[in-house]
Amino acid sequence: MAVVDHTQTSPAWIDDFPDLDGTHYLNVGTLALVPSPVMQRYLAYFEEWNRLGAGDPLHYQGWRERVECTRTSLAEYCGISSADSLHLTSSVSDALNLAIFGWQIAPGAAVITSDQEHPALVAPLTHLYQTGHPISVIAYGSGGDAFLDRLQRALEQSPTPVGMVAVSHVSHMTGALIDAQAVAALCDHFGARLLLDGAQAFGQVPMKPGLAADAYVLNGQKWGLAPVGNAALYVRPDRLPTWNPPLHGPSDGFWTHYPQSLEGGWTAHRRRLEYGTRSWPTWMAWCDALAYRASWPPLTFEHHASALARALKQALVRRSRITLFSRLDTPTATVSFAVEGINNQQLSDHLRKFRIVHRIIGAPLHAVRLTFGPSNRADALTQVAAALDALQGTETGGQEK
Ligand SMILES: Cc1ncc(COP(=O)(O)O)c(C=O)c1O
Repeated sequence: MAVVDHTQTSPAWIDDFPDLDGTHYLNVGTLALVPSPVMQRYLAYFEEWNRLGAGDPLHYQGWRERVECTRTSLAEYCGISSADSLHLTSSVSDALNLAIFGWQIAPGAAVITSDQEHPALVAPLTHLYQTGHPISVIAYGSGGDAFLDRLQRALEQSPTPVGMVAVSHVSHMTGALIDAQAVAALCDHFGARLLLDGAQAFGQVPMKPGLAADAYVLNGQKWGLAPVGNAALYVRPDRLPTWNPPLHGPSDGFWTHYPQSLEGGWTAHRRRLEYGTRSWPTWMAWCDALAYRASWPPLTFEHHASALARALKQALVRRSRITLFSRLDTPTATVSFAVEGINNQQLSDHLRKFRIVHRIIGAPLHAVRLTFGPSNRADALTQVAAALDALQGTETGGQEK
């Protein structure tokens, strides 16, 4: 079988993405550019909603069915057998809160997390800490077996029983990856609930191993290629009976009859967390993003982005004065690095001048992060090289350290 060099070919799908007129978009780890077939459907939903009469009760059933289509496609894409275990949310932050507070871990039980978590996870964990749960923070490092060893030690040595382990499946700082199934088995052994933040995993790497966790959070707006406002929480079906988030809302969207009493009248069915007046077109368009992905062979986009990242990492290790935080052998599309002698803000300002869209990573790394996606071509690598040549002088470019 011919091996496709994803860094050389101009991908067939490239014209589906907006042309940024010379700007190199290397920030899929924050938000993806949405391919035009998906964007057209998304805008058409809004337009249709308005044209048909936005609040016309006749249309609600249609919107609901379309959202169920998103749920079913998402379950299929993830390899989830029961779509009922998927709760759609508007952000990963919402989903993390629902997961964490739904477990109602025992008073005083400890929580383990890592030093590479997103503020969206750190904030609810801070609340747990403030309400009497000791938190221990272990190094995420490069993930893999070393992370597993550190986690095992932390679980064994915790002075109080560990109620929950909450960590990223893929680090947003470096693209490092943990062995989700091994981590889940370990947590199970110690009787701790495992929550995986898969915000960076979905569409960047196969996320299915993450389903071994008690709860898994994912989103559609990064490598999922869906419009902003799409995320979800998966709770393992056997855990659902013991998961009770302290939130209540009417989730049917439109009611012809209000309940006559408070005795079980308000809906408490399986979608009870998808309540309130929602932006239906947003969730509907996720279905189109999933269909767009499915129109290309499985893992095509993952391999393309990963190959570009790998090519950049290989180029960076050949340069002097570069600290590369993302491992060469990690198959993600994330490259984080720093340049000796300048801080991450200066490096960021410099990349901006070269029209390279990126993200700054603060403590503990103090780096910049470049994240590749399907909308990138090899010319992005040339542009990064040009930016670094201008910074370091061409004479250092290409030299072995
Ligand atoms: C690992 C991780 N967790 C959580 C979030 C927060 O996501 P949201 O803004 O959808 O709440 C992000 C966003 O970039 C992320 O990368």
